[in-house]
Amino acid sequence: DRSIKIAPSILSADFANFGAEIRAIEDQGADWVHIDVMDNHFVPNLTFGPQAVKAFRPHVKTFMDVHLMISPVDASIEAYVDAGADMITAHVEAEWHIHRTMQAIKATGKMAGVSLNPATPLESVEYLLDDVDMVLLMTVNPGYGGQKFIQSGVEKTRRLREMIGDRPVHIQVDGGVTPETAPAVVEAGADVLVAGSAVFKGGSVEAPEVYGANMKAL
Ligand code: DX5
Ligand code: ZN
Repeated sequence: DRSIKIAPSILSADFANFGAEIRAIEDQGADWVHIDVMDNHFVPNLTFGPQAVKAFRPHVKTFMDVHLMISPVDASIEAYVDAGADMITAHVEAEWHIHRTMQAIKATGKMAGVSLNPATPLESVEYLLDDVDMVLLMTVNPGYGGQKFIQSGVEKTRRLREMIGDRPVHIQVDGGVTPETAPAVVEAGADVLVAGSAVFKGGSVEAPEVYGANMKAL
């Protein structure tokens, strides 16, 4: 299914009102809810762990997309499965044996995604493409919302779509996605768009056009 999916990141939501914020984005048409887990080690910021993610679960009616920016990963997989993740994405830079990590996620029956930082070459996932459901291309350096889109992500998306060929693998683009930057990555072959600050401004949902019908029609 290559229809465009919009996955607002609750990193830019009001941290005191996650339940209401998740309801608001889903009411306005979000396809997935993107949860940014940061450990203050793999990335220089700290967000929430499995207990909080589990508390989000009953509020998520769509699909809970958990982006782990943590290292190591393997010992935490079970906790995020138990928290109710539908998809778990881990960074290729975060585990020595990322293939094992992907196998471990798939073995739980959940969907598995692998993520690349902006400077990490596509070749690092070439031999994983038969084993994952999604590749997440970071178009900012992970750690914070509200950063500027790194333009090389467009060409990277195009090359990745070629590498994927006819495999059923989603391409998710994450970082600096706005109504201005989204069309180029969609044209290049991305089908899941994460948007944080473009959707949530000042703690409330303010930019429904980011995940509105016009965006999905791209
Ligand atoms: C960055 C996170 C992103 C972030 C995107 O480390 O992985 O999901 O929330 O935020 P924006 O859309 O503001 O770049
Ligand atoms: Zn993310």
